[in-house]
Amino acid sequence: MPRPGRPTTAYAVPKPVPIPLSRPPVDDELKRAVLAAIDSRQYILGPECRALEAELAHDTGVKHAVLTSSGTAALWLTLRALGVKAGDEILVPAHTAFPTVEAICLAEATPVFVDADEFYTLDVADATTKITPRTVGIIPVHLYGQPADLPAIQDLAARHDMWFLEDCAQAQGAGWDGRRVGSFGRAAAFSFYPSKNLPAMGDGGAVLTSDDHIALRCRRLRDHGRLEKDVHGEVGFNLRFNELQAAALRVLLRRLDTMNERRRALAARYLQGLAGLPLVPPATRQRARHVYHLFIVRTPRRAELAAFLKERGIQTGVHYPIPTHRQPAVGCFASLAVPRTERLVDEILSLPMSADHTDEEIDRVVAAVRAFFGA
Ligand SMILES: Cc1ncc(COP(=O)(O)O)c(C=O)c1O
Repeated sequence: MPRPGRPTTAYAVPKPVPIPLSRPPVDDELKRAVLAAIDSRQYILGPECRALEAELAHDTGVKHAVLTSSGTAALWLTLRALGVKAGDEILVPAHTAFPTVEAICLAEATPVFVDADEFYTLDVADATTKITPRTVGIIPVHLYGQPADLPAIQDLAARHDMWFLEDCAQAQGAGWDGRRVGSFGRAAAFSFYPSKNLPAMGDGGAVLTSDDHIALRCRRLRDHGRLEKDVHGEVGFNLRFNELQAAALRVLLRRLDTMNERRRALAARYLQGLAGLPLVPPATRQRARHVYHLFIVRTPRRAELAAFLKERGIQTGVHYPIPTHRQPAVGCFASLAVPRTERLVDEILSLPMSADHTDEEIDRVVAAVRAFFGA
């Protein structure tokens, strides 16, 4: 019996230490890089940004990188540089983050929604049936860290004389037959959002391309369409990047492969620990290097499982519960038939994943999921 006057909380069960869905890196090397950038008193598109652009282009195996204020900005700038106009149709997966579609709409083109394949990426067979004389391009998304079927997309784009733009926001460092994603299409858009495989301490993105014209136009458009200091050749916008973020990203870019290997090791740990449960694990492509931006399982009991894990301090997510063609912002496409997408959005669950999660944390998640299924 608690004695009168004593706080009853003394008897409360201690809360489990929370496990976040993602944990961005923070350490002294990063802090030193940011402090040095502060001391430089040059904050926008300075030497750190220029060095990062060169390093990103080299790392991806393309000629140019153009840093931008976000991945969404990178997508939109590229679409403008590609000359997209009203009435143009662009093939895009229905199952992606909304910004992929948003960029198409902002460029005044029409998104044509394609169903997902068994790897949750754009289904090339479905895309083929949706090509019309107005189709100008295709945006495959390397979703969750796994490349879309790049050879098939390359072939489709070549046969129909259309460009393809890779959405690499979730797949920095992923590859196909040993070649980095972002080097296959006419251009690629990357995001440095803090949960991404190459995380900034805020928003950021980049356009990667070997096409001189696209690089030049993106560079110009991100800075008010400037031709020179006081001359504006076209109407652009302010979508520039900054030195503090670039300094931190240069440190992390050197660790990208190590961080991705860590994600892959944690994914292997999950796969081993969850084996035998009535859960669908992520399917992986033979020729692809999956870098597990997210670790996705599927179960019809998603809501129950998420609630069970939450009680144990384990954060989960759903990427994404509403397919893009049914978002209210583009509601006129809601009746479209993308059956695989419609099924999977009700069952997918993202478990904690980042290079900074510990083995013990993953083991705790595995144990909790096993307990949920009574295993
Ligand atoms: C697939 C995909 N494309 C584009 C974006 C947009 O990136 P950002 O958040 O940097 O604008 C994201 C990030 O949310 C994404 O996951």
